Amino acid sequence: MDLANGGRSSELLQAQTHVWNHIFNFINSMSLKCAIQLGIPDIIHNHCQPMTLHELVAKLPVRPNKTLCVHRLMRILVHSGFFTMQRVQESADEEGYVLADASRLLLKDHPLSATPFLLAMLDPDLTEPWHYVSAWFQNDDPTPFFTAHGRTIWDYGCHEPRFNNFFNEAMASDARLVTSVLIEECKGAFEGLNSFVDVGGGTGTVAKTIVEAFPHLHGTVLDLPHVVADLQGSKNLTYLAGDMFEAIPPADAILLKWILHDWSDEECLKILKQCRGAIPSKEKGGKVMIIDMAILNKKGDDDESKVETQLFMDMLMMVLYPGREREEKEWKKLFLDSGFSGYKITPILGLRSLIEVYP
Ligand SMILES: C[S@@+](CC[C@H](N)C(=O)[O-])C[C@H]1O[C@@H](n2cnc3c(N)ncnc32)[C@H](O)[C@@H]1O
Repeated sequence: MDLANGGRSSELLQAQTHVWNHIFNFINSMSLKCAIQLGIPDIIHNHCQPMTLHELVAKLPVRPNKTLCVHRLMRILVHSGFFTMQRVQESADEEGYVLADASRLLLKDHPLSATPFLLAMLDPDLTEPWHYVSAWFQNDDPTPFFTAHGRTIWDYGCHEPRFNNFFNEAMASDARLVTSVLIEECKGAFEGLNSFVDVGGGTGTVAKTIVEAFPHLHGTVLDLPHVVADLQGSKNLTYLAGDMFEAIPPADAILLKWILHDWSDEECLKILKQCRGAIPSKEKGGKVMIIDMAILNKKGDDDESKVETQLFMDMLMMVLYPGREREEKEWKKLFLDSGFSGYKITPILGLRSLIEVYP
């Protein structure tokens, strides 16, 4: 950019705004985290009508001299689409805050609340590794998470109960939302099955919901010992502590939700080969059901914000795990290289898809 040329100053200032917006992107996340920690969405929801600043401050656990600061916090959250302003009924001039669709999903008692996921992803244990990404590019650690904490994320969860709990709760909150859509939109995918193993199934939210919806099915949740150690199964649900790289018990279908994107291609091949050995032939209904992203790679193909979210997730997989998000052709290669004959991608889970893979 030619700074001496007065004609370029508008471009210079636009570039500065672009840089500033990217420097301060984290302020959106941190403002939202603050609102959740103060309970703002629930307070506004329980008010049942547009809530003025003074009504909000009166209900918040904040010092009275922070009223103007609450106004400033709410102003950025209105700007980022989490709240809207509506006229308070009795008064023509005064406006109050109401929830937007996105903040409804952040209510504490919403059955599909995303709050545990938000609080986990913005916990210092998970944001710290982002300060080590450039150091990691220059060392041989498996991930920036390892550079920051000296352990892999799974080993860290095994030694830090607070981390293990909030991480599992975050996964469960995502699982509730995804499974509710899966069962509604993809009933047919469970037809003909009698059993399944949810590999890396966490604390069992997905499996429990599936066996409740299809009571003839038996589900097994396979996960690491520190995740499933104290969990009680039921008539048609079993918890199994183990290592998916070592053995996966036999079943008609193997479910892998948010598993393969945690791992490198080499590790995915090992997992997929274990799955292949655990299921019957295609004719007998054997399949692997993957819930993960098939990344969109062409600009303009889809909504830009979806593309950005997928790129965020891909970076997250690089920083926390030795994993990545994959394009369809990369999925196809993994399936063929691990001995499967075909696959079907059903993109009905928003940013993610159900990918059925056949022996
Ligand atoms: C990203 S979480 C996904 C959890 C769950 N499938 C869901 O989507 O809600 C990955 C899961 O894989 C489990 N995991 C990691 N390594 C594993 C291994 N070697 N064997 C079995 N499970 C493992 C973790 O404990 C964790 O529960």
